[in-house]
Amino acid sequence: MAGKGFRYRTILEVAIIAVVIYVLIGTPGFSATTNSKSVSTKQHEVPVAKAKIEQLVYPSKDLNCPRHDYNVHIFSTSPLVLYIDGFLSNEEVDHLIASSSDKWKVSTVSNEGKEMVDDSVRKSEKAAIARDTTVQCIEQRALSFQGWPQETFIERLWTQRYNVSGHYALHYDWGMATKQSRRASSFMVYLKGDCEGGGTNFPRLPVPKEEKWCEFIECNDSKEVEGVTFKPKRGSAVFWMNFDADGRGYKETIHAGMPVKSGQKIGLNIWSWYQAGHKIPDDS
Ligand SMILES: *[C@@H]1O[C@H](CO)[C@@H](O)[C@H](O)[C@H]1NC(C)=O
Ligand SMILES: *[C@@H]1O[C@H](CO)[C@@H](O)[C@H](O)[C@H]1NC(C)=O
Repeated sequence: MAGKGFRYRTILEVAIIAVVIYVLIGTPGFSATTNSKSVSTKQHEVPVAKAKIEQLVYPSKDLNCPRHDYNVHIFSTSPLVLYIDGFLSNEEVDHLIASSSDKWKVSTVSNEGKEMVDDSVRKSEKAAIARDTTVQCIEQRALSFQGWPQETFIERLWTQRYNVSGHYALHYDWGMATKQSRRASSFMVYLKGDCEGGGTNFPRLPVPKEEKWCEFIECNDSKEVEGVTFKPKRGSAVFWMNFDADGRGYKETIHAGMPVKSGQKIGLNIWSWYQAGHKIPDDS
């Protein structure tokens, strides 16, 4: 009897330990299934994708947005990098800054799926702005600008505030990229650039020779700064594609928010998320 009981407990313990090990090494069977192309949309909504989908927004179909013109300059065609002078109007910029004013909280970085504060990587505050008509018209403009890409949705808009010494170290905007989901493109929009420093630096993009670019980029950077640095010009935006047609991330899109030396910078991120098979929910 004692022998049988002992054997039974041992098997149970082995089973429990096996489950613990299985979880500790990252549930291999589970991730293999979720990476497979043949699974249904429901099954591959692993936690990351699900959290992401909850962040997607859909501008109302009944919007009546005022006409807004801007000037686009091609910076690079591969990867596609565009400079958009006057992407937002003065009124839109004022509105975004005002609606952020009581919502600022410390920015976090994602470390192995956990959100944490790390000043050495990212020092800024961010605000989730309410999706009123003005904001939805900006979401719609961002989709229209890109030619309404299929299965691609705007992520909820956040503003970012950088005080003196605020910065964001070199990073890609790729997100947790997979075949089915990734951050297809980025707009870095400047709302307030009354500062020294604070530009957006792309160390792997060359500085154009034409002096006309000096209106938008640092032409007088010290030699220690590699590549191109876009100046935070109010209302303007830098737009780039993060992946090529085969879903490979462009290494040239690595970028940093340079430290603010004096004054303050406020920016707006507009990210477009590709999610294969995802549709606009009926109730949006
Ligand atoms: C940034 O500056 C604003 C004043 O413009 C201040 O209210 C805010 O507390 C500052 N944030 C940090 C993190 O110091
Ligand atoms: C460019 O940098 C030099 C040396 O740092 C400085 O003397 C000059 O005033 C700067 N020019 C502009 C237009 O900022």
